[in-house]
Amino acid sequence: MDAKDMGADLDRILVTEEQMHTRLREIAAQIDADVDNTADSPLLAVGVLRGAVMVMADLTRYIHTPLEMDWMAVSSYGNSTKSSGVVRILKDLDTEVAGRDVLVVEDVVDTGLTLDWLTKNLASRGARSVRIAAALRKPECLKVNVQVDYVGFDIPDEFVVGYGLDYQQRYRNLPFVGTLAPHVYGAE
Ligand code: PRP
Repeated sequence: MDAKDMGADLDRILVTEEQMHTRLREIAAQIDADVDNTADSPLLAVGVLRGAVMVMADLTRYIHTPLEMDWMAVSSYGNSTKSSGVVRILKDLDTEVAGRDVLVVEDVVDTGLTLDWLTKNLASRGARSVRIAAALRKPECLKVNVQVDYVGFDIPDEFVVGYGLDYQQRYRNLPFVGTLAPHVYGAE
């Protein structure tokens, strides 16, 4: 899918495909430098479904350090557009995390409530370390002080789609991050 396919639904491009990949290569190099190679088991990269699929696929391919991949699906209680911080696990990890160095991979940090819950959950299972990588972060929306170790881009509080992010499950397969034209979600 590309910008042409979005037509008038695309307002503007915030992060191009090239900018995202350049930044992910930098983050991967940082991760390679930070990983403790003396650990008993390889790094465990945990992607949070569904939005993190793109960044997980691209970031992990730029990382040279051996790693394993696993996936979680979580859902926030409350209405569908706002995180409540009370999280339900829809799909849990298949991997035992006790003693593991974990890298949580997310598409976007909005309020931070999901990641705040998730990092505490992984720590309570005995993870040796928990680091976070996120393609995007909306600093204006943060409600909790969650430490994101690797951030692709800080973006404004706007309706963004692409690179894993959806509007009503569409546009996740755009290779770039763009803002949605207001007419799409009913504001003009
Ligand atoms: C998004 C995103 C994070 C969460 C961030 O997921 O992937 O998991 O919201 O929001 P927060 O910082 O306010 O907690 P979403 O619930 O939209 O599901 P999806 O990944 O399936 O699109």
